[in-house]
Amino acid sequence: MTRPTFTLVVVASADGFIARRSGDNPAGWASAEEQALFLDRVAAADWAVMGRLTHQAADRPDRRRVVFSGRGGGWRRPGQLWLDPAGLDPDALAARVAKVHPMRDALILGGTRVHDWFLAHGRIDAVSLTVEPVRFGAGLPIFSGQQERDPVEAFLARGFRVAAARRLNMAGTRLVELVPART
Ligand SMILES: NC(=O)c1ccc[n+]([C@@H]2O[C@H](COP(=O)([O-])OP(=O)(O)OC[C@H]3O[C@@H](n4cnc5c(N)ncnc54)[C@H](OP(=O)(O)O)[C@@H]3O)[C@@H](O)[C@H]2O)c1
Repeated sequence: MTRPTFTLVVVASADGFIARRSGDNPAGWASAEEQALFLDRVAAADWAVMGRLTHQAADRPDRRRVVFSGRGGGWRRPGQLWLDPAGLDPDALAARVAKVHPMRDALILGGTRVHDWFLAHGRIDAVSLTVEPVRFGAGLPIFSGQQERDPVEAFLARGFRVAAARRLNMAGTRLVELVPART
């Protein structure tokens, strides 16, 4: 089986948060440009991997999803596998879903502990980070224990480098593509 590529797609506030609180869906604060790009990426991907709360905050029965939950759960819908990732690695996720649809390009869609899990396994192959010109002051970080307030710095400090960056709109929304610094 070919190894899947895992791309972390995330939108953050300028002070480094992915949500003001759990249940705070980016659709409520992210720019129209970010939302359009996000929907395109999700539609093009084979699978998306996310935590239970992110899944429940944006339930889409028609999407292929791997949902992390400490309670496990198995196949809840034809294209939605709930599992506890403890003891697994990212390639094992691909093996678990292959019978339904091959996992070649997968998206990592958060939240924080899901980002942590892929980082710990060294399998964030690419990052598509949108930075919105808003500040939350407090909230859920991109990674646990994150000291960096600048979201780009949060990735640089974890072994990534900027591959490309561009402005998405006049309000100052920025799209920053990062890759592991070793590549
Ligand atoms: N800005 C963005 O790009 C972005 C991205 C993602 C999410 N969000 C937002 O962030 C919020 C949710 O994020 P969150 O960090 O609170 O929660 P989350 O990661 O979506 O869900 C947390 C739950 O997922 C399960 N889980 C996650 N990682 C696990 C692991 N390694 N092992 C076992 N179970 C694991 C656990 O479920 P059990 O409790 O069932 O064990 C945990 O309670 C929502 O408001 C969402 O809209 C924003």
